[in-house]
Amino acid sequence: MIVIGGSSSQALASKVAGELGTEAGALELRRFPDGEKYLRVLTDIKDKNVAVIQSIHHTPDELLFEFLLLTDTLKDLGARKVIAFIPYFAYARQDERFKTGEALSFKTVTKLIESVGTDEVYTIDMHQHRVLKSSEVFKIPSHNLSAMPLLANYAEKAGKLEKPLVIGPDAEAEQWAKIAAERLHTDYDVFEKTRLGDAHVEVRPRRADAKGRDVLIVDDIISTGGTIVEAVKILKSQGARRIQVACTHPILAPGAVDKINKVGVQDVFGTDTVPSPISLVTVAPLIAEHVKTISD
Ligand code: R5P
Repeated sequence: MIVIGGSSSQALASKVAGELGTEAGALELRRFPDGEKYLRVLTDIKDKNVAVIQSIHHTPDELLFEFLLLTDTLKDLGARKVIAFIPYFAYARQDERFKTGEALSFKTVTKLIESVGTDEVYTIDMHQHRVLKSSEVFKIPSHNLSAMPLLANYAEKAGKLEKPLVIGPDAEAEQWAKIAAERLHTDYDVFEKTRLGDAHVEVRPRRADAKGRDVLIVDDIISTGGTIVEAVKILKSQGARRIQVACTHPILAPGAVDKINKVGVQDVFGTDTVPSPISLVTVAPLIAEHVKTISD
């Protein structure tokens, strides 16, 4: 098995290869003067299985195209199987036609990934709100892993919170709150959220009362930080003690972390599915654990 990282995930691929006691495969990537991408596979992958790691974030169209180019090339050069690890999977949020005429981007992206011969796909805490399983859109075997146990372990070590109440800031976050709470042997609840615009949300509490409790808020994505800020305001008004915030994918629009710090929470962290200043937890062991299960 050879691990190769695309340009968004080369550091992560090296860490995964390190976990497996090997070195990541090498690529030459550059641009032609007209802006087109040049890609060359420098490692011999003939008759081998290849794990391609490429997070598709921030410049999703470019990174998706690079993934397609890479996978197609690997198959053409004789790779036996290409297993895609796409830690952050862009376009999953457009999984429905909310307005007449809209693109079903999620479906289009999965079709493209399949079209180049990808044999299997792994994602991490993919944004699954209306589509509840990746197998509803992928025809090839697909697996959605969770970084929540890793984030909960980190929270436990870093925050020294006492039996924290785990909060998911919206109904969809229940899947992640449940995993984190189970790992920390504690209880959880979710809030209700209405999105008013790209950067504005309204969040309302349900049953949980954070009075006198330490709290760990977990979510898949922090983008503008608006969701977390509203959740923190509620928790503070209820009388929460210390608050930690964890997310799998720190997409972080400009000013997001500052916004969260300003409502009195300094302890904000995420994983390296999206490299960022708060990517304090690596998903390399999670990916390596699954790469190991793929037989040569
Ligand atoms: C949406 O439902 C996601 O799970 C996150 O809650 C959302 O993407 C966070 O966005 P923002 O940080 O902009 O509020």
